[in-house]
Amino acid sequence: MKAISLSDTTSISNLELIDRPVPEPKPGEVLVKLHASSINYRDVLIAIGGYGSRQKKRDLIPLSDGAGEIVSVGGKLKKLKVGDRVLASFFQSWVSGELTEAILDDDLGRSSDGVLTQYRCFREEGLVKIPNYLSFEEAASLPCAALTAWSGIVELGCTKPGQTVLIQGTGGVSLFAMQFALMAGASVIVTSSSDQKIETLNKMGIKKTINYKKIPEWGLKVLEITNGKGVDHVMEVGGAGTLKQSIRSIKPGGFISIVGVLDGAKSNLLIPLIGSRQIRLQGVTVGSVENLKSMLIAMENHKIKPIIDKVFKLNEAIDAYEYLKSGKHFGKICLSHDL
Ligand SMILES: NC(=O)c1ccc[n+]([C@@H]2O[C@H](COP(=O)([O-])OP(=O)(O)OC[C@H]3O[C@@H](n4cnc5c(N)ncnc54)[C@H](OP(=O)(O)O)[C@@H]3O)[C@@H](O)[C@H]2O)c1
Repeated sequence: MKAISLSDTTSISNLELIDRPVPEPKPGEVLVKLHASSINYRDVLIAIGGYGSRQKKRDLIPLSDGAGEIVSVGGKLKKLKVGDRVLASFFQSWVSGELTEAILDDDLGRSSDGVLTQYRCFREEGLVKIPNYLSFEEAASLPCAALTAWSGIVELGCTKPGQTVLIQGTGGVSLFAMQFALMAGASVIVTSSSDQKIETLNKMGIKKTINYKKIPEWGLKVLEITNGKGVDHVMEVGGAGTLKQSIRSIKPGGFISIVGVLDGAKSNLLIPLIGSRQIRLQGVTVGSVENLKSMLIAMENHKIKPIIDKVFKLNEAIDAYEYLKSGKHFGKICLSHDL
């Protein structure tokens, strides 16, 4: 089988196409023929050494998000069977319940080999059936970005009809958050650095948009759009560089989902503003298998389709990584494994 290996986590150029034997499933495992995968910002960070000493595994098969079909089993299964179309959960051992330290150190494509390969064995508990209306590429776009957005908007943020959600940027997590916020009956304000992407949003019916490059003090613009009220919820993907504007744009008692660090990781928090205005900061870390199943039910009921910018071939992994790093994408970047 073909796979992509990251020989050293210092540069995207260390990604290389390799041949490996197809693995055999052990008892309790299934062998999945992976037809597609998708890239997240964290995968680029891992490839360029952004995880520092937390990245212990070398010679890594990268990427957490993959979808395919079960081709053989290592013993009796409880729910799945050969032929089922499945996607892999980001934290294979987080089936349900609370997050633990052990789960945090059990993510695909970092602490263990990931899905940028044509075949991989998984434990049955870490897999979820793909709804029929989604292709393998669409399903592969979901495990990290969509589930993070779902956890922030629905599970933890409890977004309600009539609320307003501020979405930062038009990357993978952000566009899923936009779709889930709309599904929940909220209205959205979306920021982007690109007028062209704003035009695309406008064509999709998203009329409240801000170019955050042209309006660096975009928190004030959000207040203007909301008639001074502020938004109920911010999906914070920027981090240090955007949090000040997020706090400016949120109403008292509002909720900020702390998701990403696209604009820096270390921040001088405005503690009096957070305390006196009762702002809730909530860390979000992907989600469990149970959360993933709930998300898929909601997506199927509402026929929500992932927004995919581009699909690369497995042997074009470096180009796919570079494309994500360039920030030119709108939504998700996928890879097809069928060469
Ligand atoms: N905590 C978790 O569980 C979790 C899970 C997934 C992702 N994340 C994190 O969430 C972040 C987004 O991940 P992703 O995979 O969705 O990334 P992505 O697809 O690469 O998204 C990048 C986009 O974010 C926007 N952006 C960049 N800097 C921005 C800024 N200063 N203000 C507003 N928007 C900005 C840009 O949109 P425009 O081009 O429109 O400007 C850019 O195209 C990353 O930091 C990632 O590590 C965290």
